[in-house]
Amino acid sequence: MCNSVKLFRTLLLLISCSWSAGGFAANAPGYYTYGKAASAAEIAGWDIDIRPDGQGLPEGSGSVEDGEGIYERKCAECHGSFGEGVGQFPILAGGNDTLTHQRPVKTVGSYWGHTSTLFDYIRRTMPFSQPASLEDNEVYALTAYVLYLNDIVADDFVLDRENFATVQLPNRNNFVPDPRPDVDNKRCMKNCRNPAEITISSSVSAPPPAALSLPTAEAALPADHPGAQIYEQYCMLCHKTGVAGAPMLGDKKQWDERLAQGLAVVQKHAIEGYTGKRGVMPAKGGFADLADDAVRQAVKYMSGTEQ
Ligand code: HEC
Ligand code: HEC
Repeated sequence: MCNSVKLFRTLLLLISCSWSAGGFAANAPGYYTYGKAASAAEIAGWDIDIRPDGQGLPEGSGSVEDGEGIYERKCAECHGSFGEGVGQFPILAGGNDTLTHQRPVKTVGSYWGHTSTLFDYIRRTMPFSQPASLEDNEVYALTAYVLYLNDIVADDFVLDRENFATVQLPNRNNFVPDPRPDVDNKRCMKNCRNPAEITISSSVSAPPPAALSLPTAEAALPADHPGAQIYEQYCMLCHKTGVAGAPMLGDKKQWDERLAQGLAVVQKHAIEGYTGKRGVMPAKGGFADLADDAVRQAVKYMSGTEQ
């Protein structure tokens, strides 16, 4: 016999199944009916961490000698030819035996614990304006070169996957496991406590911190200015919050002082790059492919000049 309620349910089920099968199922293994399982290639793209013993390193190698050339082209403008740091950009070498000083100089040589951190840092984030743009061999060579700048390897050294773990940083033994008992909890895999029974027994009673408001004057700038989009894509990185001494968007006083040299000069500085009192403005912000006119527009926008 046909039970109409049952039939109705079955129909509903069919409809919802075929809907998800037709509309989303190919992409929807999970519960939420959207998204898709990450492919092996996608996972590989993110899975780039390296352990101090070198596990996870890509194929490749690089010499101090090769590193020197790449470093001069891609790094020295900010970090200085000897890793001494230009303006407010970080110092990469030296500072030995300063960790106990009142003003320690923390560098790869004086402070860092593992070569793998250096490799990973360069590979993931540098050069600052074009992160993750370096080839694996370039990263090996640059890592070797920064080690050389810190007198950790000789000038004929070639870094590769095999000898990686043998390069040890001087400060490695001063990193110790956190001894506080509350960070040493055993992981529970079965018969664990009911999370509902666990209560927080103490808490910080300080008032919540006020929302951080950065002193930008974006509101005052017209969003439809042709330079706005270029600014957001290429210049905001440094000019929104004043990274490394960059004049901030909409900081009228700063920009008026700069505009006193004439708009054309300020634009020329942005196109060709220059070193000022506060830091280094890389040519076109580091985006060599950007058209000169686009940079000019962005400068007008940033400095609050009419289009
Ligand atoms: C446009 C300027 C710029 C360029 C070019 C640049 N860097 Fe950097 N670098 C920075 C800034 C800024 C930081 C600090 C970033 C932070 O703390 O979030 C940094 C940090 C680093 C650090 C970590 C320093 C520390 O002690 O924390 C290393 C290592 C480094 N850069 C290596 C390189 C290498 C190698 C290149 C060339 C491929 C390069 N950088 C190019 C600006 C630059
Ligand atoms: C990596 C950081 C960084 C990026 C990206 C960047 N700038 Fe700069 N810019 C600076 C710094 C630092 C200064 C200040 C230098 C000084 O005067 O000491 C500066 C200064 C300037 C100046 C002032 C020139 C003068 O004569 O006073 C202009 C204009 C400018 N930038 C335009 C741009 C434009 C346009 C872009 C995007 C296409 C851009 N910047 C991207 C760091 C950056």
